[in-house]
Amino acid sequence: MRVLILGKSGQLAHALMHTLPQGIQATCAGRDDVDITNTESVNTLIKQYAPSVVINAAAYTAVDKAEADRDAAWAVNATGVEHIALACKTHNVRLLHVSTDFVFGSQSAVTLHGIAPLLPLSTLAPMSVYGESKLAGEQVIANVLPNNSVVVRTAWVYSPYGANFVKTMLNLMATKPELGVIYDQIGTPTNAFGLAKWLWAVANKPHVTGTHHWTDAGVASWYDFAVAIQELALQKGLLQQTIPIKPISTAQYPTPAKRPSYSVLDKTSAEAAAGLQAKHWRSELSHVLDWLAGAIS
Ligand SMILES: NC(=O)c1ccc[n+]([C@@H]2O[C@H](COP(=O)([O-])OP(=O)(O)OC[C@H]3O[C@@H](n4cnc5c(N)ncnc54)[C@H](OP(=O)(O)O)[C@@H]3O)[C@@H](O)[C@H]2O)c1
Repeated sequence: MRVLILGKSGQLAHALMHTLPQGIQATCAGRDDVDITNTESVNTLIKQYAPSVVINAAAYTAVDKAEADRDAAWAVNATGVEHIALACKTHNVRLLHVSTDFVFGSQSAVTLHGIAPLLPLSTLAPMSVYGESKLAGEQVIANVLPNNSVVVRTAWVYSPYGANFVKTMLNLMATKPELGVIYDQIGTPTNAFGLAKWLWAVANKPHVTGTHHWTDAGVASWYDFAVAIQELALQKGLLQQTIPIKPISTAQYPTPAKRPSYSVLDKTSAEAAAGLQAKHWRSELSHVLDWLAGAIS
């Protein structure tokens, strides 16, 4: 099977290459190879490489910047995805695409029985330009390539690569006297390696289509996540001293983009589709911190 991965320099593309299963021939394309906002560029690349599967890990991911940069976010996350979907349709290629919990809003998880993890069919209500543009990308795929595509929504992705919450926290914990971290946004961290393994598991299963949710298992606030990062990083020698971490509210830390207060994703369909069980976020965090500490490679 030949697989083309878009988004070469991103954290998910790195994780995909690191977890590449035997028997799959994959190549990554970066911006030097393709600009997904340009339909010719996308079409030429897919025609030339002739993959059987495209994994789109490219996206405009600067959530706060997108509020003032709407056109750029839409050009990549909506129009760019349309270019990819159309080229896949033309060349009969299966598309695996990654979306986000930010397609949901603060009310999306409220059910008759209280708050519950979000299902793929839960009410969509993006609260930000990024979320709207990612939702538009999902809708394009559903229209253009309904029977030959998979959309996987994920959340709070981190890895040893690129910029992410774990690496930002480690840096702040090593340089600041104390930290305030938000306690009233609830979700689930996701190790990019686990998401990559899920994508590889379904890449080989053409009967898997539609929208699924994949994160690590469990539930956390950003505050809980930060406390765990500090605790485990101290154990592994990545940090030398403890600093106080205070729980703060979203209102105390205003950002340009609004974010859902609860976006725990229900992974049932994704686990069944791939035959994989998500592992708890804390053990996944420990694994990535071991990597950063140089204990594994
Ligand atoms: N990170 C998270 O917490 C999170 C949460 C939920 C969902 N997701 C989704 O997961 C996927 C992977 O995220 P990630 O964290 O790996 O993202 P990332 O590290 O920001 O990587 C995104 C990649 O997209 C590339 N890209 C942007 N515009 C492009 C264009 N016009 N043409 C070609 N490539 C372009 C970027 O290239 P440059 O480096 O050259 O800009 C970068 O390599 C994305 O779909 C994202 O929306 C991420």
